Amino acid sequence: MELRDVLAQRRSIRKYSKRAVSGRKLRRLYKALQLAPSGANKQNYAFIFVTDAEKRRQIAEQAGHQEFLAEAPVIMAAVCEPGGGFNVAIAVDHMVLAATDEGLGTCWWGCFDSGGFPGTSAQTAGRSSLPGLFGSGWGGVGWGRCTWSPGLHGRTGTRSRFRVGCGTSC
Ligand SMILES: Cc1cc2nc3c(=O)[nH]c(=O)nc-3n(C[C@H](O)[C@H](O)[C@H](O)COP(=O)(O)O)c2cc1C
Repeated sequence: MELRDVLAQRRSIRKYSKRAVSGRKLRRLYKALQLAPSGANKQNYAFIFVTDAEKRRQIAEQAGHQEFLAEAPVIMAAVCEPGGGFNVAIAVDHMVLAATDEGLGTCWWGCFDSGGFPGTSAQTAGRSSLPGLFGSGWGGVGWGRCTWSPGLHGRTGTRSRFRVGCGTSC
């Protein structure tokens, strides 16, 4: 897919089919995470991929009872050291775009109780902060039905956010 199409087609998916994500596709997502830049190349983060159905159910419960999260065949927890938030967010966004290119639906979940992350923990991964959960899988009902450009839906216009060459903040 052309990059501009990937950017336009990505959207948050909150309904997933049960179809498993193949190892080949998962490896492409890992590669996208690996290729992401980080400050001073620190790579001060870790990624925990969860496919077990019961663990996914428990995670969805901890994530403010966002049950639809459990439907995603793969849940990934992005873990970073304090101060590593920018780095990990960039890496995850690399993965999001790669997933879109693979025809996979994705959604960030920032709302969860990290203390109760079941089956593993930020400490297990040698990191101390859990900035995001992330669902990935085949988009289910609703995917592809929208008539608006998903990438621009609900976005403010560029003129209201961007200042070019004037030195003021966005
Ligand atoms: C850091 C972050 C945290 C988010 N947390 C949640 C969440 O807990 N639950 C959810 O349903 N969507 C969550 N989202 C998705 C946003 O609601 C979504 O990106 C936004 O509404 C724009 O829609 P779009 O992604 O379809 O373009 C999160 C997105 C980001 C970037």
